[in-house]
Amino acid sequence: MILAQLSDFHLSSGHPERTKRLVRAIDHLLGLETRPDAVVITGDVADKGESSMYAEAAGELARLPMPVFAVPGNRDWTEPFRENLTPWCGEAENGFLNHVGEMGDLRLLGLDSRRPGSQQGQFSAQSKSWLEARLALQPERPTAIFLHHPPFRTKLRNGSIGHQIEGVEMLEEVVRRHSNIVQILCGHLHRIYAVPVAGVIATSAPSLAYQGIVEHWHEKDDFDIRPAVTLHYWQDGGLISRLAW
Ligand SMILES: [Fe+2]
Repeated sequence: MILAQLSDFHLSSGHPERTKRLVRAIDHLLGLETRPDAVVITGDVADKGESSMYAEAAGELARLPMPVFAVPGNRDWTEPFRENLTPWCGEAENGFLNHVGEMGDLRLLGLDSRRPGSQQGQFSAQSKSWLEARLALQPERPTAIFLHHPPFRTKLRNGSIGHQIEGVEMLEEVVRRHSNIVQILCGHLHRIYAVPVAGVIATSAPSLAYQGIVEHWHEKDDFDIRPAVTLHYWQDGGLISRLAW
């Protein structure tokens, strides 16, 4: 089975080309010889919380015949996200939009990693309780966690190395206790990373809107790079991840 990941659309009325890039990515998925069995979206659907942009995203996502599971990113606003993407996102619980999905044997647990008032993320005590309760329901079932902010250290804009999510130690502790967690899928970085987190590989997906270059966060984005989707092949109890254009 194939799980496709789309991330960081950053749709904006000031950047209509980003909607075209989303259209192109969805056309690509629909044109694949073997279509994905499910799709996860790892946040930053709209750039500035514009309801009309969530409606545009919904119009495109509606073309996908397979199940779609979405969590928000730091740019997303709770209400327009939920109102427009309700078929594909979780119910707001204390303002957070965590979400459970599945693709065959594989369970997908989506975490809302936003920290209100900040661009950086968090794995809160509330998220920890939510995740542990879901994991306890099916302790043996292979599970992938998907969230916007990566729970690993990355090179930051100022050139230092650091975390983009608070409370990462708590997430590491949960992952260590659950050998059925097979991979952690993230967005936010607009570029590919693959980093071990508590013994599990965590990957970040490229953005549909624009790609970042590690040394020049956002200042030198390359709009010429085609939008890429990530395809995760579920095989022999693990995911094999690769890009597709
Ligand atoms: Fe982000």
